[in-house]
Amino acid sequence: MNQKNIPVTQPFLPELTEFIPYLEKIWDNRWLTNNGPFHQQLEAELCKYLGIEYISLFNNATIALITALQSLRITGEVITTPYSFVATSHSILWNGLKPVFIDIDPTTFNIDPAKIEAAITPRTTAIMPVHCYSNPCNVEAIQKIADNYGLKIIYDAAHAFAVKYKNESLLRWGDLSILSFHATKVFNTFEGGAIICPDAKTKQRIDRLKNFGIADELTVTAPGINGKMSEINAAFGLVQLKYIDQAMQQRQAIDAYYRKALAEIKGITLYQHNLDANSNYSYFPILVEPDYHLTRDELYEKLKEHNVLSRRYFYPLISNMPMYRDVATADIENLPHANNIANKVLCLPIFHELTVVDQLTIINIIKGI
Ligand SMILES: Cc1ncc(COP(=O)(O)O)c(C=O)c1O
Repeated sequence: MNQKNIPVTQPFLPELTEFIPYLEKIWDNRWLTNNGPFHQQLEAELCKYLGIEYISLFNNATIALITALQSLRITGEVITTPYSFVATSHSILWNGLKPVFIDIDPTTFNIDPAKIEAAITPRTTAIMPVHCYSNPCNVEAIQKIADNYGLKIIYDAAHAFAVKYKNESLLRWGDLSILSFHATKVFNTFEGGAIICPDAKTKQRIDRLKNFGIADELTVTAPGINGKMSEINAAFGLVQLKYIDQAMQQRQAIDAYYRKALAEIKGITLYQHNLDANSNYSYFPILVEPDYHLTRDELYEKLKEHNVLSRRYFYPLISNMPMYRDVATADIENLPHANNIANKVLCLPIFHELTVVDQLTIINIIKGI
């Protein structure tokens, strides 16, 4: 039996010696935060790498989501998915807005566009979908509805680093997209995030909002927040970027190995990615169906007994959390697919350094060998 834990994920870390010269530079020029040289360089390199025009770096994606809603002056109700990390809905609540939950598509686990129109009221001003596990939402259908009703779209793209949809960056869809660079994400800056926007004017507004709303030394134009990314985080991002393709390739091989080994197991369903997009292989979710010989939670515990730390991601469902109980659309009857998936999902370990031996351990436990 494996003695050490196999975590669900592990960050890519370059050699420490490679990071030291960046720190020396920060020490030399004594510019620690507030749009420093590494911050500017990372914004420029990410635009190039991701194939986007404008990006504004943040200290994390949650503050970026909150700021995104502020930047578009969203009011009233925001249509969103319950099948996400809590930060999605929390950002709506932190703006004093009402989340309106609609159900997900049971194959993509993303917001079901067919459910949007019925959820629109005179108070609806925006839609906040999530590209779950880096799989694109039905962006065309969502855009069409938003255009028809004059709604803004803010994509929580926390999972969707480096995803291209029909050969273009997925992050170009909607009014804004938000990335997370948290330590558990495929590209990380320890903590970090970003807003992707389509024009310089919007970037300027977002840049001011993340810096207390300050326009210049004497002028504060909005009630902003402190959402700035520091030079240390930005410098780390620059080093990460050199290895991101390699890290994703390693993850791809792990994904392929799981797919082959787990394809024919009774009661285990594998999550499928959209063939028009590339995955970044950030997660490996499976569904534990009723005809598997264990329940999802039993399998989770069994893996844990063997030091394998899988994760029930996303469970519990946001709409079942106490702070959302008052929201009428949080009712289980309104969200059958989201509830069903949340009760069956299990994310298996996937990260660049997961060894074949450890992967076999996981596969054999699932096979019951
Ligand atoms: C879908 C989603 N949205 C938002 C967040 C929040 O990101 P952060 O931890 O950078 O604030 C996360 C992850 O942590 C996430 O998975």
